[in-house]
This record gives sequence, structure tokens and C-alpha cells, in this order.
Amino acid sequence: MPLPWEATIPFALLTVMFGAAGTLFNVSQRAQNLGKPPRYHIDDWDEMMMERDKRLTGHRRGQRTDPVAPERFSTNSVWYTDKTQ
Ligand SMILES: *[C@@H]1O[C@H](CO)[C@@H](O)[C@H](O)[C@H]1NC(C)=O
Repeated sequence: MPLPWEATIPFALLTVMFGAAGTLFNVSQRAQNLGKPPRYHIDDWDEMMMERDKRLTGHRRGQRTDPVAPERFSTNSVWYTDKTQ
């Protein structure tokens, strides 16, 4: 089977560019999630748990096994209030 040599350079360029873009996207997303894959379909409950994790560990994706909350956990919550008028 004859190989179309003139098409190999564009084909290689496309392959390398898609691979580089995908790899950089993967690395970028994992860097934002402490090395874990990103979360999808996040609902209100997940948002609350991620907010709690942020208060406990300092990062929304952070987790800890220590059952005792740090001292700052008792005071670092954000109370969302309604505007009164
Ligand atoms: C992203 O990288 C991780 C390892 O760093 C790998 O396990 C995973 O398969 C990669 N995902 C894609 C879509 O390449």
C-alpha cells in the first residue's frame, strides 16, 4: 500500500498538538484539584461538603482523617445572611 508521504508531517503535527493540549489540560485540572481528577455534576450537598473541607483543610479538595477539628474550624465559617430592608 503506498503511503502518502506528503501527508505525514501535517498528520504528525495534528497528533502532537492534540496530545499536548490534552495533556496540558489534564495537568492543569489536576493541579487545581490537589492531584485528583476533577469533580463533575456537583450539587448543593457537594458544595456544602467542599465548603466544609475548605474550612477544615484550607482547600476545597482537601481531606483529612483526623477526627478532631482544628481550633479555627469553630470560628472560620461564613454566615450567609439576607439583606434586610
Ligand atoms: C490524566 O493524568 C492521569 C495521571 O496523571 C492519568 O491517570 C489519566 O488517565 C490522565 N487522563 C487523561 C484523559 O489522559
